[in-house]
Amino acid sequence: MIKTKIWHVDRQSNTNSTNQEQNKKLYSELIEGAEMLRSGGLVAFPTETVYGLGADARNSEAVAGIFEAKGRPSDNPLIVHIADINQLGELVLPYPQLAKELMNRFWPGPLTIVLPVQPDKLSPLVTAGLSTVGIRMPDHSVSLELLRLSECPVAAPSANRSGRPSPTLAQHVLDDLDGRIDGIVDGGPTGVGLESTVVELEDERTLRILRPGGITEEALIEAFPDVCIVKEHVNDEMVEKPRSPGMKYTHYAPKGELSIVQGDSLNVIVYINKQLEIAKSENKLTGVLAFSEHVSEYKADRVIDCGSEKRLDEAAQRLYAALREFDEAGVQFMWAEACKTEGIGGALMNRLVKAAGHQIIYV
Ligand code: TXA
Ligand code: MG
Repeated sequence: MIKTKIWHVDRQSNTNSTNQEQNKKLYSELIEGAEMLRSGGLVAFPTETVYGLGADARNSEAVAGIFEAKGRPSDNPLIVHIADINQLGELVLPYPQLAKELMNRFWPGPLTIVLPVQPDKLSPLVTAGLSTVGIRMPDHSVSLELLRLSECPVAAPSANRSGRPSPTLAQHVLDDLDGRIDGIVDGGPTGVGLESTVVELEDERTLRILRPGGITEEALIEAFPDVCIVKEHVNDEMVEKPRSPGMKYTHYAPKGELSIVQGDSLNVIVYINKQLEIAKSENKLTGVLAFSEHVSEYKADRVIDCGSEKRLDEAAQRLYAALREFDEAGVQFMWAEACKTEGIGGALMNRLVKAAGHQIIYV
């Protein structure tokens, strides 16, 4: 057991503030965490997507610690986080101009770009033996400042135990990793609530989305109308040797049985209530994940409101916390209302479908 240190970073500094006083305070609070990272420690920190568990990406012993703390399979590579575009030069080999344009348009932001890795610069554990590395620059003043102060490229997967939902609060990190890591920077709730979009470049004109996330497909199409965008994740279950190794793992499966119900709202409500009746007659503990417009319709033991169906960004922010809540309540059967796959809804349904083990009921 290690004593896990917690730094509470002023919530107000959590925006991209230019206020010097605030930045100075943030700076002094992050120095200790940055020093821990530089000396081989494991430090969790907030990003605009989810909390990450960081280690110096050049230090194999530190990176091995990430896999151990999380219980993560070693063939699943880690994303390297940078604060400054100038760090790229020493990490990757020459890359297509399209990658440069993606960085200009979306960094800092929730876009991970898979690039050819420079040999011998990063721990081989980071890339899990691949010739590429996923790199991103988070859009969050706390992570950017921590990365800057640490003066190293930081490998950081989501800061959850393997098989649990990604953490959107410092408390989630503590629940999963207390005593297993050196520190947690608590910067309040994360923004997007789902992980970054991971893309790979096939050539100058073809972009492959390996994992949908914070940067939506629509945003990519709008920014690069002439580029062909391929969606690897659509065929998730059919990909035998996925390009993104993480895709072959069921990221998260709740302890109870989760089903997604898709169809006309009224049919969805009728169907779920019927199932609730059956489960209750068998004395099972039940849960429903519903949009605000319908929460009052359900008579489950736990009904979690994920916000208005017109605000899928809010549902994205709440999803992982809701899944954790069902687990903690010991819910045995859960139903979730499906959502539209437009905008962030694409990533939202992707995560939900995975959590449900692809169990979708069409009504
Ligand atoms: O938003 C995020 O991306 C968060 C925060 C902390 O930055 N990080 C995150 O990391 O979600 P992780 O390890 O949970 O997911 C990384 C994903 C995995 O699916 C992995 O397989 C894929 O990125 N990946 C990493 N390096 C890759 C590479 N070289 N080629 C293909 N896929 C890669
Ligand atoms: Mg993860």
